[in-house]
Amino acid sequence: MQRASPAPAGLTGLAETAFIPLVARALAAERFPDAGFRDPTAEAIYGALQLDLTAYVGGNASMHGVIARSWMLDQIVGVFTSRHPNAQIVDLGAGLSTRFERIDNGMMTWIDVDQAPVITLRQTLFPHVPRRRMVALDIGSPGWVDRLELAETPTLVVGEGFFVYLEPEVAAATIRDLAAAVPGRPCELAFDYVSPLLVGTPRAHPVLNRLNAARPDGAPVTFRWGARRAADLAPADAGWQVVRTHPVYDKIGFPYPLIDRLLRLCGGGHVHAIAHLARAAQPRPITPPAAEAVPAGAASRTPDAAPPRPAPRALGRLHPAMPRRRV
Ligand SMILES: C[S@@+](CC[C@H](N)C(=O)[O-])C[C@H]1O[C@@H](n2cnc3c(N)ncnc32)[C@H](O)[C@@H]1O
Repeated sequence: MQRASPAPAGLTGLAETAFIPLVARALAAERFPDAGFRDPTAEAIYGALQLDLTAYVGGNASMHGVIARSWMLDQIVGVFTSRHPNAQIVDLGAGLSTRFERIDNGMMTWIDVDQAPVITLRQTLFPHVPRRRMVALDIGSPGWVDRLELAETPTLVVGEGFFVYLEPEVAAATIRDLAAAVPGRPCELAFDYVSPLLVGTPRAHPVLNRLNAARPDGAPVTFRWGARRAADLAPADAGWQVVRTHPVYDKIGFPYPLIDRLLRLCGGGHVHAIAHLARAAQPRPITPPAAEAVPAGAASRTPDAAPPRPAPRALGRLHPAMPRRRV
């Protein structure tokens, strides 16, 4: 029987998956120099961990896909915070994500949410920033949204490489729970999802395959939830509407866009895509909370009562000059 190898930094099961995107972003500049994506904080953490993380290095499509989805979610957060500079961003299943360091505008507030062992490790790696909180909880457990203690301010919730690991009923309940968050304020949700054909097939993912083989005693880590289209993730009665779907394979070069189109033609949906949802307009509360700063001349407009505006039609190329911050 195969012996289990020790999990780095004590992270096991789902928590261990936090190393996969960290490694992809840390190695992005070296592996994909033409992609224009560099993450100095991920590089610094990768070095500071002083662990052998080679088991988390994926194939080209997998690593490039992580970089593309990170970049795409960065753009969605950037558009949201350009409309609401004081927005609150909630990162579900934050793992060792360095998005705050990549795109902080100096005004937004941020909540990283993950399981306790991951948050404990995060706290040793990231400096304290007054506008950022790290919350340890099991997303989907009873009352989890209340425990976030969300501020009544425009809110964008992101989930990167997170929802795919939830059981379908937990994922659906989580999306429903979020629809009720911060009533009367703009609220959007952006996350990646995979085709249902990739659900329950850990062998299709080389890194998960390797991790499962190294931990034969644990429950296999695999994608548990997928969808053919974003609209299936956001039933109208849950209060969400689809702003746009962004296929991840469109950003990683030939032959992947073609593979994505073929899968769609065969009815399997996108291989991997970002769903960007916005909560349908809600009535304002009777006693409105303190108003957001409204530009001069626009005093009669209430930004929080406005219906969600669609994001730009496409996210453009994966080669922008990205704002960079050092650790
Ligand atoms: C693949 S990692 C992604 C990490 C991060 N979003 C990134 O892109 O670097 C998935 C993360 O989701 C977290 N996670 C999965 N299920 C969770 C749950 N029910 N509650 C809290 N965190 C969860 C895991 O602990 C892990 O850190």
